[in-house]
Amino acid sequence: MPHVRFSMANSSPPPAADAPILVFDSGVGGLTVLDALRRELPDAPVIYAADNAGLPYGEKSEAEIAARVAGLLGRMAERFRPRLACIACNTASTIALGMVRDVLNIPIVGTVPAIKPAAEITRTGTIGLIGTGATIRQAYVDRLEAEFAADKHLLRLAAPGLVAAAEAKLRGGTPDAGVIADTAAAMKAMAGAENIDTLVLACTHFPLLSEELAEHFPGARQIDGAAGIARRIAFLTQGQAMIRSAGDIALFTRADDKLASLRPALEARGLSRMEIL
Ligand code: DGL
Repeated sequence: MPHVRFSMANSSPPPAADAPILVFDSGVGGLTVLDALRRELPDAPVIYAADNAGLPYGEKSEAEIAARVAGLLGRMAERFRPRLACIACNTASTIALGMVRDVLNIPIVGTVPAIKPAAEITRTGTIGLIGTGATIRQAYVDRLEAEFAADKHLLRLAAPGLVAAAEAKLRGGTPDAGVIADTAAAMKAMAGAENIDTLVLACTHFPLLSEELAEHFPGARQIDGAAGIARRIAFLTQGQAMIRSAGDIALFTRADDKLASLRPALEARGLSRMEIL
């Protein structure tokens, strides 16, 4: 009798052409990752999910964030059968990426502070990093610093006020200039900050405030992970059929009055259907 060997390598069927890529954040910050993804894969069907009931993550404990993110992604994966999930949130990724990968059997792409590329481009060797309070205290960030920026001067600052400012701007409002100025002043007060030539935006909300931040750090190059994440997703899905047959879905965890003001920004990104989980 011939010896039959079964290989598991290619055993799962390719995803259906309309199987979505799930892009997840606590709020609208992940739209900066979606923008980069649209440039890379314009035909990819997407579900953009925002845990608005849990926003802001940056002020929560590690245990709370891990439980929320793993639980929500599990529910969303069951309901929407995505081909891949992207945690478009530094806070959630630096805390829960490993746990989510353990429980979901689809590829998971996370977002981590862009310390490596920042270390490659800095000329002065001084890098400013702004993120949420929960992100900047993570061991994950210590490891990135030790691995890629051990010979650099990395100044980390928690900038929780910028999350609400970015949310307000995306709703068509004016971001609080005082909050942005206070954040910049706090960074500039750190020892050695006058040498900062590279600013890591370690929260996906912050590229939404790129112009405002540039006013305070005119000489610094801002760097975030969005383009790299989009390239990684394109690599992991290469060869897969993709069709956007209907408008994409923006999914929220709570219905509230503020959602209506988000519509223009969502529709501009092809997210024409709004649903509540
Ligand atoms: N956008 C999220 C990040 O990248 C955090 C915003 C929040 O505090 O919920 O960290």
